[in-house]
Amino acid sequence: MVSKRTEDFMRRDVKYLMHPIHAVGRRPRVVLEKGHGIWLQDTEGKEYINLLSSIECTNLGHGRREIINAVLEQMNKVEFHGGWYGLSDPTTIDCAQKLTEITPAGLDHVVFTSGGAESTDVAFKMVHLYWFLRGKSHKSKIISLYGSYHGLGAGSWASNRAEVFSQERWGPSSKDFLHIPSYHCYRCMFGLEYPECNVRCARYLEEVIINERPETIAAFIGEPVIGGSGCVPPPPEYWPTIRKICDRHDVLLIADEVMTGFTRTGKMFAMEHWGVKPDIMTVAKAISGGYIPLGAVVINDKVYQVLKGNELSHGYTFCGHPTACAAGLAAMNLYVTDKVAENAAKVGKHILERLEAEFKPLPCIDNPTGVGMMLGFDVVTDKTTKAPFPEDVRERIYSEILDKGIISAVIWGSGNSRFLIIPPCTMTIEEADLTLDILLPMMAAIKPS
Ligand SMILES: Cc1ncc(COP(=O)(O)O)c(C=O)c1O
Repeated sequence: MVSKRTEDFMRRDVKYLMHPIHAVGRRPRVVLEKGHGIWLQDTEGKEYINLLSSIECTNLGHGRREIINAVLEQMNKVEFHGGWYGLSDPTTIDCAQKLTEITPAGLDHVVFTSGGAESTDVAFKMVHLYWFLRGKSHKSKIISLYGSYHGLGAGSWASNRAEVFSQERWGPSSKDFLHIPSYHCYRCMFGLEYPECNVRCARYLEEVIINERPETIAAFIGEPVIGGSGCVPPPPEYWPTIRKICDRHDVLLIADEVMTGFTRTGKMFAMEHWGVKPDIMTVAKAISGGYIPLGAVVINDKVYQVLKGNELSHGYTFCGHPTACAAGLAAMNLYVTDKVAENAAKVGKHILERLEAEFKPLPCIDNPTGVGMMLGFDVVTDKTTKAPFPEDVRERIYSEILDKGIISAVIWGSGNSRFLIIPPCTMTIEEADLTLDILLPMMAAIKPS
């Protein structure tokens, strides 16, 4: 039973709202109205550990006054002016500079967006503009990984017929995409074992490029650590091998750091783990700590010098929104001053050690993996076949953990069933232990079917 107030919210939610990944017309699970640190609170006063960091955004936790004050200060100056046609402002400039200072050296030029899918689309357009300006428009195919996730935007641009947003420069509206097997070792699509495989998944990229002909391949895009499909890091040789292959065949490398960026993996950006520099990096989510939607595409000088002097006939109304940039600037300052990456590395290591020691021996829990605060484990019916549980078990786990005061995600689909642990990167060891102590008996109660 919930209070009359909560019941009223529930009723009006069903009437007026639709939620992603939730049946249309179904009651909301909870109505949240407050947050502090790693905690969210619902309209009944019940507290939840935010183990998903609000879809991987609140890396700094909730209620940080530094960000809230920066937003208020910006709003008191000018909330928004529209950054098209060369209009600029001090906060957006400062935010762009800060971003280039914390991204790996060489990524020095920024265009802002309002989120991850927009950043992916802008990156693809830049890739096509780059090859168009180099007189190589036939380099149009983009390669990505099976199981990858780069956003859900579709359609609006393809329906345009306004001259200024010319498709000639940006390449065909429905892009030519090729997919190759991912580095998900537990479910290796080649049926191989690491390290004997000699990272076949990375080397396979070269075979595809050669077979498709390098003159047709524009770019390779990948998540530095598999995100939405389960928080799975690659073998250490993976990204250095990919970088070499891209260089050999004049293919641009796009790192999608939308989920992995801003201390999530225990480094400011995940690519730093392997010392690999992409040509283009897409970011969003935690750039502003999740306080206001913001995203960006950061490019290196090689790409920038080709684009220089040409009009970027692309823009979203809210790209470079000064209030969002004020939140971004404040959040990026906090990542640095609070040494959040170090905390994510330390506490993430502790969580992974406990997952190995206490969760992995359980009958249905397998393959704990992760880096920093981007962790997960498989929930399987049988550890030898690695068969995932049916869909209804996902629903049961989700509801039970919510009941016990934890918000997280359980990923099912494509032969995968992973429980995700993606807390704010500011989580303490004590908070991590509290979370694992709640989860352990629940995972122990899952029995092979
Ligand atoms: C790696 C990655 N890229 C892109 C996106 C899309 O971001 P958005 O939901 O902000 O459009 C996501 C979202 O989860 C993501 O994880």
